[in-house]
Amino acid sequence: MNGLILTLLLSSSITESSAFRLSERAPSFDVLGQSSKRQSAGFESDTNGTEFLWTIEDTYDSSNFFDQFTFFDQGDPTHGQVNFLNQTAAFANGLAYVASDNTIVMKGDNTTWLASGAIRDSVRVQSIKAYNTSLIILDLNSAPWGCGVWPAFWTCGPDWPEYGEIDILEGVHDNEHNQITWHTSPGCNLTPSSNYTGTLSGNLDCDTAVDDNSGCAIIDWSRASYGNYFNSQGGGVYAMKWDDQGISVWSFYRSAVPVDITSGGSPDPSGWGLPAAQLSPTGCDPLKFFMNQSIIFDITFCGDWAGNSYATTTCPGTCANQIMDPANFVNASWSINSLKVYSKHVITGTTNGARHSLDGALGPTHFALAMLCIVAFALTV
Ligand SMILES: *[C@@H]1O[C@H](CO)[C@@H](O)[C@H](O)[C@H]1NC(C)=O
Ligand SMILES: *[C@@H]1O[C@H](CO)[C@@H](O)[C@H](O)[C@H]1NC(C)=O
Ligand SMILES: *[C@@H]1O[C@H](CO)[C@@H](O)[C@H](O)[C@H]1NC(C)=O
Ligand SMILES: *[C@@H]1O[C@H](CO)[C@@H](O)[C@H](O)[C@H]1NC(C)=O
Ligand SMILES: *[C@@H]1O[C@H](CO)[C@@H](O)[C@H](O)[C@H]1NC(C)=O
Ligand SMILES: *[C@@H]1O[C@H](CO)[C@@H](O)[C@H](O)[C@H]1NC(C)=O
Ligand SMILES: *[C@@H]1O[C@H](CO)[C@@H](O)[C@H](O)[C@H]1NC(C)=O
Repeated sequence: MNGLILTLLLSSSITESSAFRLSERAPSFDVLGQSSKRQSAGFESDTNGTEFLWTIEDTYDSSNFFDQFTFFDQGDPTHGQVNFLNQTAAFANGLAYVASDNTIVMKGDNTTWLASGAIRDSVRVQSIKAYNTSLIILDLNSAPWGCGVWPAFWTCGPDWPEYGEIDILEGVHDNEHNQITWHTSPGCNLTPSSNYTGTLSGNLDCDTAVDDNSGCAIIDWSRASYGNYFNSQGGGVYAMKWDDQGISVWSFYRSAVPVDITSGGSPDPSGWGLPAAQLSPTGCDPLKFFMNQSIIFDITFCGDWAGNSYATTTCPGTCANQIMDPANFVNASWSINSLKVYSKHVITGTTNGARHSLDGALGPTHFALAMLCIVAFALTV
């Protein structure tokens, strides 16, 4: 019964979305280097032509975030001058909490003066659940930055580097452009192409054994993709899509977030314009080099990247001195609205006919999703 209604809803939404796509104007780019806001409510296709929707698998927000992430309290593998606190200590010291406006806050200590050579308290958390292909969407008001500060929002598989690492949001000091990086076992390479808007940064080889684990990286084109300028726009959204078509990353400052992300329906990355960065299957099998990815947030200080690059920046003094004064860490803070993970839901049937049905169980969630697709379309006309 639900199935019949759903079939009808999907039939009408697909016809309408196709019509919408035909009239969709070509992407334009604004002064911050991001494609303009646009709307989309269609289906995506796999390389073999199979159509699918991205449906919500997990929502992490103020109601469950700290139940679903564990605190890593070991030494920093990237040699940061940091003391990662366990959950009890992080909560007790106010470095991890849900704020009164329901944002999730994780931060470095910005109240303690340190002796020379001492390490600064901070947090690193990891999702209990691991994912195999996914569309991950992070909505945040602000991300950490500052001289000597090195934050990252990333995913990592077991037995590193065997099952890969994807750095979605990462930077140091007062950078303005996000760096997207992949770290893998031997045999995975970035393919230079015009299918992303960012610029290559060094290695094409993602092998961790090459060039001191620099990985293969792409710098986001947008000035508002990292740091002060991203935060001053009210933050925004980072999206990472990982499937058989490769791994793509987009950043959107607040006013450029696509409506299909904010509407709560099924996000459609095919309508978002070119990603900032992409690891194409041409040079790297995304299903072989990446598996069981957990999601991680951390803030470290100095260390392999922020420490070694410090002298090349306009930041004052040395990283070792910078880290002593708590006033230097007032912006070393995550303020997160939500983190959503979507998985593929294959649609069977043909695209030009009236007959569509969803593969698998037709629960209330899927019914609601189909409704939202239509609502999202209705808003565009
Ligand atoms: C198409 O590719 C997807 C992803 O690799 C796979 O899950 C699906 O089974 C394939 N469909 C067909 C008809 O081969
Ligand atoms: C958490 O860290 C504090 C401070 O280092 C320590 O005293 C406490 O035993 C730790 N708790 C657990 C559960 O490890
Ligand atoms: C770039 O996109 C085109 C069109 O989708 C595709 O044919 C080509 O394989 C892509 N190139 C790479 C390196 O992924
Ligand atoms: C991910 O896929 C691999 C290969 O198909 C499989 O061995 C593994 O168990 C899967 N992991 C999860 C979390 O489903
Ligand atoms: C991946 O996750 C699956 C499901 O939890 C598990 O069975 C498998 O052992 C994991 N693979 C590795 C390499 O950890
Ligand atoms: C913190 O951010 C503000 C802008 O919101 C900036 O003026 C200030 O210089 C930053 N402080 C540090 C220590 O980075
Ligand atoms: C520490 O940072 C928070 C933001 O995370 C800010 O509200 C607070 O005022 C800062 N404390 C000091 C002493 O600067």
